[in-house]
Amino acid sequence: MALDTTEAGDSLEMAASIAVIAIDGPAASGKGTVAARVAQALGFVYLDSGALYRLVALQAQRKGVSFDDEPALAELARTLDARFDAAEIWLDTGRVTDAIRTEAISSGASQVAAHVEVRQALLERQRAFLRAPGLVAEGRDMGTVVFPQAALKVFLTASAEVRAERRYKQLMDKGLSANIHTLLQEIRQRDERDSARAAAPLKPAADAVTLDTTALNIEQAVDRVLHLWQHRQ
Ligand code: DC
Repeated sequence: MALDTTEAGDSLEMAASIAVIAIDGPAASGKGTVAARVAQALGFVYLDSGALYRLVALQAQRKGVSFDDEPALAELARTLDARFDAAEIWLDTGRVTDAIRTEAISSGASQVAAHVEVRQALLERQRAFLRAPGLVAEGRDMGTVVFPQAALKVFLTASAEVRAERRYKQLMDKGLSANIHTLLQEIRQRDERDSARAAAPLKPAADAVTLDTTALNIEQAVDRVLHLWQHRQ
């Protein structure tokens, strides 16, 4: 028994000493791309926490579970058989990398994420990504709830118009059709839902550095984050 307690204590201490960079921000702020590139530059693990909420929404859609049914959604979140494998994401035995990026699942993820029980069910799963030498975790509540010990917290923003334009270009590049006005409306709706919810709302941590990328490209945003990391206190 005594050995178990020591081991638990040791692993807690070890977890606390692993470097974490938390990058939070609204939909389509570019945080996914920025976080992945920062992780690559530093040789850190990368956590796309939004993908977990998207997987719960996709599983709910597949199993016919309503986005309002908190206990059933929490059960799906607890039992999710998900795997992150380089750039690919797997659910059960199928590849769902693209299936979780549709507008319907984006909206569904934002709805399932409003439930406290779902967030609770995903908490340990997110913390399990913590591995030496470090982790870059990206989402809405990385700095406020999941990794409050993060050595650097960045809140990435950009105007809703610029974010809608970026999303529009991404879809066009993929050969998909899109309407910029609808995209802007969806982004505003998602911002409103993610910021107004009671459970872990989207907001900068008290000790976060806000980085407005409205006038920055991806490389410039990555450089700013790396600079902040090198010059952290
Ligand atoms: O980052 P994203 O667009 O893939 O996230 C999809 C949704 O998941 C987003 O609208 C809100 C939710 N989410 C969350 O509530 N907390 C996180 N840490 C990450 C995402």
